[in-house]
Amino acid sequence: MKDIAKSKEKIIEELEKRLSKDLTYDSGFILGSMCSEPLKFATEIYSKYISKNLGDPGLFPGTMELENEIIQELGGLFGCRNVVGTITTGGTESNIIAMRIARNLFKNKKNPEFIVPASAHISFDKGAELLGITLKKAKLTKDFYLDLNHISSLISENTIGLVGVAGTTSLGLIDPIEKLAKISEENSLFLHVDAAFGGFILPFLKELGYNIPRWDFSIKSVLSITADPHKMGLAPIPSGGFLLKPSSLYEEFGYEIPYLAGGGFKHFNILGTRIGASTIAFWALWNYLGKEGYKNIVKECMEITSYFEKRINEIPGIKVVVKPIMNIIGITTENGEKVEIIDEELRKKKWKLGLFNNLKILRAVIMPHVKKEHIDKFCIDLELITKKLFN
Ligand SMILES: Cc1ncc(COP(=O)(O)O)c(C=O)c1O
Repeated sequence: MKDIAKSKEKIIEELEKRLSKDLTYDSGFILGSMCSEPLKFATEIYSKYISKNLGDPGLFPGTMELENEIIQELGGLFGCRNVVGTITTGGTESNIIAMRIARNLFKNKKNPEFIVPASAHISFDKGAELLGITLKKAKLTKDFYLDLNHISSLISENTIGLVGVAGTTSLGLIDPIEKLAKISEENSLFLHVDAAFGGFILPFLKELGYNIPRWDFSIKSVLSITADPHKMGLAPIPSGGFLLKPSSLYEEFGYEIPYLAGGGFKHFNILGTRIGASTIAFWALWNYLGKEGYKNIVKECMEITSYFEKRINEIPGIKVVVKPIMNIIGITTENGEKVEIIDEELRKKKWKLGLFNNLKILRAVIMPHVKKEHIDKFCIDLELITKKLFN
């Protein structure tokens, strides 16, 4: 602890200087993030209500009401009214909550196993480790979708749950959830869909006329969904969503904290004290943008994605891995070689994409902060790098 207090001006000056190392979304260099600059209206609301604590909802019944309301709205968007759910800190927490519910549901299985596609997010590895679950990973087909035959072959008497991804982290693909649901139903398993990224794109893409396979609660055996407002929902961080089909599971597996002022409520969040401002800001954003607002944002992102795809395919030596389904593009080389070197060279020029070395893929996420002029600048640098590497 320093014994000489600094003035606010000095502190702000120091922060400005030190944080100038950070990249900003409007620079265009952030090409591999699933987050973006939240709308100003949402950040204003967020700071206004920063002290609300949903970990003690008896003190903040108004905030809890907003949380319940927004969860019902999301349930409706994902094919089920009257859902149970909560705003979480993100996809990781939501996925772990789903795994915990499944584990508690199958308490009789002493060595529980969960099966996820090899493309599933690392949060399932974390959840497995924390909850004492064995995680099995099903192979992908050659076009990077979940291999249903392999997932079936991994099911054993210890299996408790299956995961399908609607918007894979690496390529934004949608697993064949309807077929997975059939397998889940036949084996009486818990089926969770991770739409952390896709949740706030797919319903709008469908309304825009894109051919989107069913992936949500409209499929009978999909029991829970992760969908994150702080990704394409454009809400301030932290803001995740966990939704569960109406069920007594909530009552059975919720934690009760009887000493709190509100008393007697149950929750299944991993956290105790948790930020209410995220929920309030997302509620505000949801009402402000409405369906049309989100549709327009998704439409713009898809237009820039198509432009980006075309530009990549024009550069000799590299190509787009698969036709993008949503605003994620995987870039690779003709035989998958040198992807790591390309990434290294791009980083030297400040461009930050995601590197999925196991798949030999560089991932770009075309969030609303990514504009055509950024793509143009990026493609000039990328072409210079590939020319050097492949000539
Ligand atoms: C499909 C998917 N699920 C879960 C997560 C984890 O989300 P978070 O980083 O908000 O915990 C991600 C993050 O990229 C993701 O892509």
